[in-house]
Amino acid sequence: MKGARILLGVGGGIAAYKAAALTSTLVQRGALLDVILTAEAERFVSPLTFSSLTARPAYTSLWDVPERIPHIRLVREAQVGLVVPATANLLAKLALGLADDLLTTALLAARIPLILAPAMNEAMYENAATQEHLATLRTRGYTIVDPERGYLAEGESGIGRLADEERLVEALERALTPQTLAGTRVTVTAGPTREAFDPVRFVSNASTGATGVALAREAARRGAAVTLILGPTLLAPPSGVTTVRVATAQEMHDAALASAAGADIVIASAAVVDWRPVNDSPQKQKKGEQSIDVRLEATPDVVAEIAARKEKGFLVGFAAETQDHERNAREKMHRKHLDAIAVNDVRDGHGFGTGENALVLLWGKNGRKDLGTASKETLAARLLDAIEELRCS
Ligand code: C5P
Repeated sequence: MKGARILLGVGGGIAAYKAAALTSTLVQRGALLDVILTAEAERFVSPLTFSSLTARPAYTSLWDVPERIPHIRLVREAQVGLVVPATANLLAKLALGLADDLLTTALLAARIPLILAPAMNEAMYENAATQEHLATLRTRGYTIVDPERGYLAEGESGIGRLADEERLVEALERALTPQTLAGTRVTVTAGPTREAFDPVRFVSNASTGATGVALAREAARRGAAVTLILGPTLLAPPSGVTTVRVATAQEMHDAALASAAGADIVIASAAVVDWRPVNDSPQKQKKGEQSIDVRLEATPDVVAEIAARKEKGFLVGFAAETQDHERNAREKMHRKHLDAIAVNDVRDGHGFGTGENALVLLWGKNGRKDLGTASKETLAARLLDAIEELRCS
């Protein structure tokens, strides 16, 4: 997002105030925004709001700027355009190719990816005219970030609420990212698993799933169809990814095998618990006793079973090691029949539950690439770069 040139169109609906919050988020991420408000948008929010947030002029009319043809310059300078909120009226105008103000003329002149985020009253959204316009715009290549169901300004609940900011940012990220994984199916396992020994107690580990969530998000940004098999974690699954929530190793095994069967890339970043209690008591065990015996048995090795059934696809595992990590990891990679393994040294606070990590990717007999120490988001991008390169070689 840093340095990205974005054209933000603001339509005349009550959700226009959210366009201001989005502008601030994008500016904080380093994007350079040009904002165009329609005349109706100006009734809800002031151009001054946007010019203050962007430290650049906010545009409202074809006629009030000294230059001759601002609409052409504005779309030529942008890499992507986004309309928030896309009102029923704006959708209709765009579908018909009407260009009667600065925003609609600019959008008609655009040769850049365009994203529309509709927001309106439920009845207006469901109206056949609006739905047909949306269908037309989709076939013309616009990306539509569908509205959500929830509280509407009329005081009712229904469909028509502007998509969450995270979904809008993700749609922009995707439009700005080269689609190097378009047409590819990617499966990612992530998070811990939870193995119960009574209704309220379980064996687990400190994994948050952050690495796997970052990998799934980045693969989706690159155009892959991503399935994320996610264990119990408080992290929200990324938008634009099919997420299957699981709790136990057995559930992760079943979901991962089903998804991995047709996948081109499988990344097993989950910290699957290696043992599960043999007995899962149906009743909560009473305290009283000084000690209790919990007998554990091995859980299925998800990634090894994926490897055993693999017909195609590139299979990457993870190894969290505390000693002799690269040698142990390479041995693990061979034993589990993986194509590559990402190793992290979990001795000094890296890895589990932290935002940062240090990764080294190993493959074959002595293939090795140090991915460095960075945020899990940056490492996810570097790991996918390395995987893309290995798949081509
Ligand atoms: O053997 P170890 O747990 O260190 O191997 C780590 C790799 O194996 C990771 O990719 C992890 O996701 C995967 N794994 C698995 N199922 C298990 C244990 C580990 O898929 N039961």
